[in-house]
Amino acid sequence: MKDRLIAPSLLAADFGNLQRDIEMVNKSEADWFHIDIMDGVFVPNISYGMPVLEAINKHAKKVIDVHLMIVDPDRYIKEFAALGANNLSVHYEACTHLHRTLQAIKAEGMKAGVALNPHTPVQLLEDVIGDIDLVCMMSVNPGFGGQSFIENTYKKIKQLKEIIERNGASTLIEIDGGVTDKNAAQLIEAGADVLVAGSFVFKAEDPTRTIKELKDLVNK
Ligand code: DX5
Ligand code: ZN
Repeated sequence: MKDRLIAPSLLAADFGNLQRDIEMVNKSEADWFHIDIMDGVFVPNISYGMPVLEAINKHAKKVIDVHLMIVDPDRYIKEFAALGANNLSVHYEACTHLHRTLQAIKAEGMKAGVALNPHTPVQLLEDVIGDIDLVCMMSVNPGFGGQSFIENTYKKIKQLKEIIERNGASTLIEIDGGVTDKNAAQLIEAGADVLVAGSFVFKAEDPTRTIKELKDLVNK
């Protein structure tokens, strides 16, 4: 069975102790660092930008998975590659020429991801699925950590999995928002490959142990 991945979202980390939290993830069983970039336009919140990512990249020893919640993401593709992003996901809803954007991401040596808002049908990816390395399926409305999981996500995962298989693609399905030990196993059963977890990890009493628990749950 292929390894299912856990990607702690640094949005929920303690920014006053960012290096400490990054080292915790480095030493844990987590697989990726999930980095949420918000511009206050595509989503009603501003998170952090380039200088913070540069600092994260200095310490992070695992895959850097960047989730761009910004309008017109093409403007910054080269810059994110230079800042050490391994995966770069752009929102379907923010791209007019998605196919071109995906090629531009790959040309910079990164894995190309597409993020989908909860209301965006997965069927819209049918004609471009072979070009997508990763679908970041939002299971909350993007913009904030700590929101509750939208149940309709299970159905969307199954539909997306069917599209991936029918097209012979090797796209990974990443679930982002409201992931906990209560829904992790069911998400994997529906077809997810990667689970992002922000609050559930960083607000836990023992984040390292919580990551291990999630990792065990998804690889049973
Ligand atoms: C929301 C972000 C998520 C968020 C997840 O817009 O894309 O990555 O950090 O946080 P939790 O796990 O707390 O829902
Ligand atoms: Zn995210």
